Formats: sequence, structure tokens, C-alpha cells
Amino acid sequence: PVIDIRALGSHGYFTHDPGFTATSSCTSAITYIDGDEGLLYYRGYPIEELAYQSDYMEVSYLLIHGELPTAEQKRAFETSIRHHTLLHDQMENVFRGFRRSAHPMAVMIGVTGAMSAFYHKGLDNFDPQHREIVAHRLIAKIPTVAAWAYKFNEGQPFVYPQNRLSYAENFMHMMFSSPCEPYEPNPVLARALDRIFILHADHEQNASTSTVRLAGSSGANPYACIASGMASLWGPLHGGANEAVLKMLEEIDDVSKIPGFIKRAKDKSDPFRLMGFGHRIYKNMDPRAAIIRQTCYEVLDELGLRDDPQFKIALELERIALEDDYFIAKKLYPNVDFYSGIIFRAMGLPTSMFTAIFALARTAGWVAQWHEMLSDPAHKIGRPRQLYTGSARREFVPLDQRG
Ligand code: ACO
Repeated sequence: PVIDIRALGSHGYFTHDPGFTATSSCTSAITYIDGDEGLLYYRGYPIEELAYQSDYMEVSYLLIHGELPTAEQKRAFETSIRHHTLLHDQMENVFRGFRRSAHPMAVMIGVTGAMSAFYHKGLDNFDPQHREIVAHRLIAKIPTVAAWAYKFNEGQPFVYPQNRLSYAENFMHMMFSSPCEPYEPNPVLARALDRIFILHADHEQNASTSTVRLAGSSGANPYACIASGMASLWGPLHGGANEAVLKMLEEIDDVSKIPGFIKRAKDKSDPFRLMGFGHRIYKNMDPRAAIIRQTCYEVLDELGLRDDPQFKIALELERIALEDDYFIAKKLYPNVDFYSGIIFRAMGLPTSMFTAIFALARTAGWVAQWHEMLSDPAHKIGRPRQLYTGSARREFVPLDQRG
């Protein structure tokens, strides 16, 4: 049942729901999740059909506009994205202001936020055409930002986008090409990466998307709002989990040690959790995890890595956890982050870039949600309430009289 708080509000009631476990913050027509059945739809299309029959450009268009594009619309969208892939020349200075050792997510948050300094004047968030340009710019530029954050880390020259390449190939090119050697795109890996982008493109009102909406609800600069979403995504309970999964698999090191880690995950005195397991909404298999597992087989086969020891540990960990009473009782299943790290690592992508790739893919969802929010004439600034637990009124004591 849905209780409409707008009706209660007029009577002075409000809900207290830490973690928003039972509170909807908005209406949205973008993404539908049925956590009990393990269903995920973008604009009514099952994720499985989009993952296997569509591509990330088409899905981005779908998320923003609500309909799949015609061939003509898709061409125009891709042309616009290609047109915007370059960063302003001065943005290079923003990268150079960071320490070389900075985490790529820290650099991405900073650089994306800095875009607000380049694209602010004359920007009208309430003009749909302006919003469309913002969406295109962000989808186009974030792969460049992510790849350059990595190149900066590595002390390598920045690689400019190659607009004849597909979206996923272009990202791989900017990551892996060097002035000495161009990267040769591999169609199987590019397709797998594009599919991972689709799976991560949106997931309704999660922490980072809600952050983007809340920041944007005040009419703030959208580039700064997307940077705030990235900051939220970075946490290990959210998009940072893919990095944490790989670290955990490295730590487990051998299938014989899995039972010990399962035991730790169940021990309430130990803060350790099985990373890549559990989800606030899914109380059944995360449908994205099943697709990613299948994609993992395809990528490892392509690279001749089917015997990858970490993949074996992951499969065995999943098998044991799914048969364990604790995980069954708490409905803890592998989530989208469980297998993605193994794919990224096999592709040669460094662990520190895993969350950055998630952020890249989620940009389409963030801009679609921001656009949807501002398109609603009834939209209001987000302003949660609180239950005050501090002291009652106290008398101020001047500094020289305090004991
Ligand atoms: N390992 C062991 N126990 C777990 C795990 C886990 N991965 N996840 C949840 N639990 C247990 C909790 O200890 C809690 O037990 P209790 O009832 O005895 O207190 C119970 O299951 C419910 O967990 P909550 O943390 O209350 O569930 P919530 O919905 O708040 O959290 C979350 C969901 C954050 C995803 C959680 O399952 C978790 O920490 N997972 C590991 C991190 C992870 O994989 N994050 C990625 C999420 S997907 C994404 O963001 C793309």
C-alpha cells in the first residue's frame, strides 16, 4: 500500500524512515524493479532484452527520451555524443592539479564538478533543450574524464577520443592506446563492456541517483550534481563494491579458504561482509548478476582465461553461499558487482578503475533522472525532515565562566 504523505503533511504528520527503506522520494517512469521476482525493466523493456539486443547508445537514448530511437534518431544521437567527446583544453590543468596517486574516483569527482565552471553561464535547467545538451555532454565526456584519470595516475600522456570508434571501443582506446602503440579494439570485449554499461545504466532511486536528484532539486548546476552522485557511488556499500569484491577474492586466494570467509560474514561481531552479496531491493537473484556471469564466461573464453583462479573462487563462493542457511534466510544473492570485477581485470582494467567505469555507465541514468525531475512542473526542492534528538533549550555560558 502507498500512503501519500502530501495528504498527511497537511495534518502535520511526517514519516521517520532512516535509510529510506519504505519511503518513495519521487514518481518516476524510467526504471522498474521487482525485487522479489528479480525483475529489472528500463522504460518497460526487460534488462535481458536490452543487454542482448540493444547497445548502450540506444539504451541511453531510451532512458532520457522514454522511447527507443528510430534509426535516424539513433544516428543523430550518436553524432551529437561524438561531437562532445573532447574536454575543454583547460580541463587538462584540472587533472594536473591532483596528486598522481589520487584515486581515479577522486579525480573524476573533481573534474566533473569542475565542468560546472566551464558550462554554467547562460545555462537554463528549466529549458528542455539545454537539459538535452547537458545530457549529451555528460554522456560524451565522462569516458574521456575516466580514461584520463587513469592515464594521469599512470604518468602517461592523455589519449584523445577517436570518434570513428564505438562508445565502448573509444573508452578502451583512451585507456590503452599510447603514442607508441594504438589499441586494437577487440569486438568481443567491446560488446561485453557495452553490455556492462547497459546493466549499470540506471537503477531507480539508489543512493547516488537520489543524491543527484536532491542536489539538482535546488536548480543547481547539473555537472556539480553529477559529481555529487559520483561521490555517493564511490562508497563500498554502493558502486565501490566491485573493487571490494576483487580485493576479497584476492584475500580468499584459494577455494579451501571460502568456508572461513563465509563463517566470518555470518559472525555479527565481525564487520566483514561478503562483498557483492545482498541488495536493499533484490530479495532474489539480481537479474544483472546472471547476465554478468554469462558475460564473464564469454570474456574469459575470448582471452583464454577460463581457468582464471579468481573466477573459480567466485563460482564456488556463490555456490556455497546460495546453499547456506544464513544467506538463504536473509535472502542474500550475488548482486551486479559480484562478477563485473573479474571481467574488468581480465580486460586489463585496473582495480582502481572499477567504480569509475560504474560511474561512467550510470551517467546516462543520472542525467535521465535529473531531466525527468526538472521536466515535472510540480517538482519541489528536496527537503527531508528529521527527528531532533539533541538537548532542549540551554542557557549560553560565556567562555570565561565555563568550568
Ligand atoms: N554479507 C553478510 N551479511 C550481510 C550482507 C553480506 N554481504 N549483506 C547484508 N547482510 C546481513 C546484515 O548483516 C543484516 O543482518 P541482520 O539482520 O542480522 O542485522 C541483514 O543481512 C540485512 O542487511 P542490511 O545491511 O540491513 O541490508 P541493507 O538493505 O541495508 O543493505 C547492502 C544492502 C548495503 C547492499 C548490503 O547487503 C551489503 O552491505 N552488501 C555488501 C556490499 C555490496 O555488495 N554492495 C553493492 C550493492 S549493489 C550496488 O550498489 C550496485
